[in-house]
Amino acid sequence: MIQIQNLCKRFGNFCAVNNLSLHIKKGEVFALLGLNGAGKSTTIGILCGLIEKTSGTVLIDNKNLDTQLEAIKKSVNLSPQETAIAPNLTVFENLELIATLYGQKSQEKIFDTIKQFSLQEKTNVLAKKLSGGQKRRLSVAMAIITNPKILILDEPTLGLDIKARKKLWEIIKTLAQTTTIILTTHYLEEAEALANRIGVMANGKLVGVGTRTELIARTKTQNFEDAFLKLTEESDE
Ligand SMILES: Nc1ncnc2c1ncn2[C@@H]1O[C@H](COP(=O)(O)OP(=O)(O)OP(=O)(O)O)[C@@H](O)[C@H]1O
Ligand SMILES: [Mg+2]
Repeated sequence: MIQIQNLCKRFGNFCAVNNLSLHIKKGEVFALLGLNGAGKSTTIGILCGLIEKTSGTVLIDNKNLDTQLEAIKKSVNLSPQETAIAPNLTVFENLELIATLYGQKSQEKIFDTIKQFSLQEKTNVLAKKLSGGQKRRLSVAMAIITNPKILILDEPTLGLDIKARKKLWEIIKTLAQTTTIILTTHYLEEAEALANRIGVMANGKLVGVGTRTELIARTKTQNFEDAFLKLTEESDE
């Protein structure tokens, strides 16, 4: 579904993504982990055409990012780390705007999505008046309402309360039956609960890919947190 070959992104002399190669299969939930500044947001920003890569090849749904970006944009949607909400539109209007852009006109679908994310009471409230966690929920709802083939979620549960986080996990699990999902998170238990495979990035490089069990075995550790720390430390040496 997603084939990344030798991907590099430099900002000036700084290498934010360093020769990254990765295949993500159709229907997979893939979690991208790594310390702050590892290169996760840059990598997924490239995949959805928000950030221009320096070199490398990216195929998404058999389409080449260099030549078929417009087609790719139709099948990929992103919930960014910094939300893409219009602050002076209401919850309903934000969802309506995105749905319309993607050719979906069903008001019912908008109300269903609002309910799915427990924002009913805020339907007609301006987005700038939402709490941090409510904004995050709206941002994820805006990515989901377009029914993308590939859904990219950058730290979707950051700042969510326990109930909202668990609810979003359930939504992600349900979506995973029909959608390929890439998510980043700093919560290891989230990756463990949701992802079929996990990629660990450090200093722009992919330092480990596999299932949770594979990564634990490969690092000869006892649990996933130790495996993660070992993978990210090794790259410092
Ligand atoms: N527009 C930019 N100009 C210069 N450097 C940048 C730019 N965007 C990102 N970087 C640098 O690239 C590196 C990777 O950033 P990125 O946002 O991909 O990290 P991340 O893994 O998503 O981190 P976090 O967990 O904090 O979100 C960082 O060192 C960052 O400072
Ligand atoms: Mg990031």
